[in-house]
Amino acid sequence: MNNLEKKDIILEARGVTKKFPGVIALNNVSFKVHRAKVNALIGENGAGKSTLMKIFSGVYQDYEGQILLDGGEVKFTNTRDAQSSSIGIIYQELNLIHNLSIAENIFLGREPLTPFKFIDYNKMYRKTSVLLKELNLDLDPRAPISGLRVGQQQIVEIAKALSLKPKILIMDEPTSAISDEEIATLFKLIKLLTDQGVTIVYISHKMDELFQISDRITVLRDGRVVDSFKTGEVTEDLIIQKMVGRPLKELFPRTHTVSGDEMFKIENCTLVHPTIDGKYTVDHVNFTVNKGEVLGIFGLMGAGRTEMLETIFGLHPNMSSVDVYIDGQKTNITNPSGAIKAGIGFVPEDRKLRGLIMMMNVRDNINLASLKRSEKMGLISEKLEEEYAGQYVEKLKIKTPSLHQKVANLSGGNQQKVILAKWLATNPRILLLDEPTRGIDINAKREIYALIDELVKADMSIVVVSSELPEILGISDRIVVFAEGKKKAEFGREEATEEKIMKAAIP
Ligand SMILES: Nc1ncnc2c1ncn2[C@@H]1O[C@H](COP(=O)(O)OP(=O)(O)OP(=O)(O)O)[C@@H](O)[C@H]1O
Ligand SMILES: [Mg+2]
Repeated sequence: MNNLEKKDIILEARGVTKKFPGVIALNNVSFKVHRAKVNALIGENGAGKSTLMKIFSGVYQDYEGQILLDGGEVKFTNTRDAQSSSIGIIYQELNLIHNLSIAENIFLGREPLTPFKFIDYNKMYRKTSVLLKELNLDLDPRAPISGLRVGQQQIVEIAKALSLKPKILIMDEPTSAISDEEIATLFKLIKLLTDQGVTIVYISHKMDELFQISDRITVLRDGRVVDSFKTGEVTEDLIIQKMVGRPLKELFPRTHTVSGDEMFKIENCTLVHPTIDGKYTVDHVNFTVNKGEVLGIFGLMGAGRTEMLETIFGLHPNMSSVDVYIDGQKTNITNPSGAIKAGIGFVPEDRKLRGLIMMMNVRDNINLASLKRSEKMGLISEKLEEEYAGQYVEKLKIKTPSLHQKVANLSGGNQQKVILAKWLATNPRILLLDEPTRGIDINAKREIYALIDELVKADMSIVVVSSELPEILGISDRIVVFAEGKKKAEFGREEATEEKIMKAAIP
């Protein structure tokens, strides 16, 4: 390495190999991080991106190879070590403590103190306010995390990382749950930071983001670096080809036609606002879904889409009311198990909180909502459980060394596939999907779109909430647009355009 390059490279992995039982997560990886640039990393789910970042940030200490910081080898023994070397990280999985406030989470373990060594709450709240303002987040620093939506929590994680004033900031899918507006704010901030000399390592599955924000793109596949480019010198197609190993097939395969019979009807879906009297989070919403139809639901963050799905699924029994008809019959759903019995499945947005039991293995998570199926004379048959789970692992191409792997050890995108498998296993007639491809790589997305097409072809009715316009337009037969808890517009597949949808979605 000549001197000029030495100055240019702030952080480097040299020949790094990391093994987990049954998995080689990183295989002789060399990766140079350029100073004061946005260094992007892309690759399929399970390619090894997060693992490499966790080595950079001191989470994993047992690996082969070297990590160099400013040209000298470092061996971090824990995350604090990396922090004192000014390496900050925003983890892919949110790590906030739910019953603490925003400010307490941001300053956890390093709270500002008064001269008498008490926690200086005023100072803590003030500092938090400043951070939240920078990120355009209009929230009270005293508010508990438990009341925040996933996207807001993600921004608090960003604020927390920024509060440490790192020289190198690793962002592992920071935008998977935030709105376009919030993404724009974050990108402005990234620009500001790199102008000030901060180095960014940026991971995302969203190709347009990488092209917008990064200076360099490195592609990982199966634990190896496949190639590395200056962003200006490469095309999206080439990146995808490098990621997947071949050109991608049609992203939105579509073979189904809608039968026309009404299968699912929602009338007067209403959820009262948790704190403001007389206000509704979901405001008297009606819609129908036909047999074999995909109904897309679009809305900006906070439009009430997730809450509506939750209400239908019986998750807010005391604060909501809704009439749910299936095949013209009125149902009486008061809780999730009632909804499952009625034939409804719900894949939630937040995989950690509602979707999965992290310490349980892949097999048991997949079978969790459909145990009855594996019963033989009143006993759960492990053999049947293995069989069922195995089918889904194959069908969804879940990357795991075995069915006995703990879900916590899967990569983020593969965890998402396990949730999907769990709900498909209940054999629902109606499937509610909330951001089903969040954190999923482009190739796996295509598999999920193909699966949706296959399921509706077999007469399932599917409701998909998504913040990604191309996704909504690509898979839906009909699109309902939400704003401020209300249904604002409805479009047929043929008439829907990005402009029309956005126009209806802005309150
Ligand atoms: N703690 C762990 N124990 C066992 N295996 C692990 C652990 N962490 C990751 N793995 C495995 O290592 C491989 C790489 O995972 P990693 O999380 O780095 O992928 P990723 O590229 O970040 O994927 P994604 O896009 O889905 O987040 C995967 O096969 C994963 O299952
Ligand atoms: Mg990851």
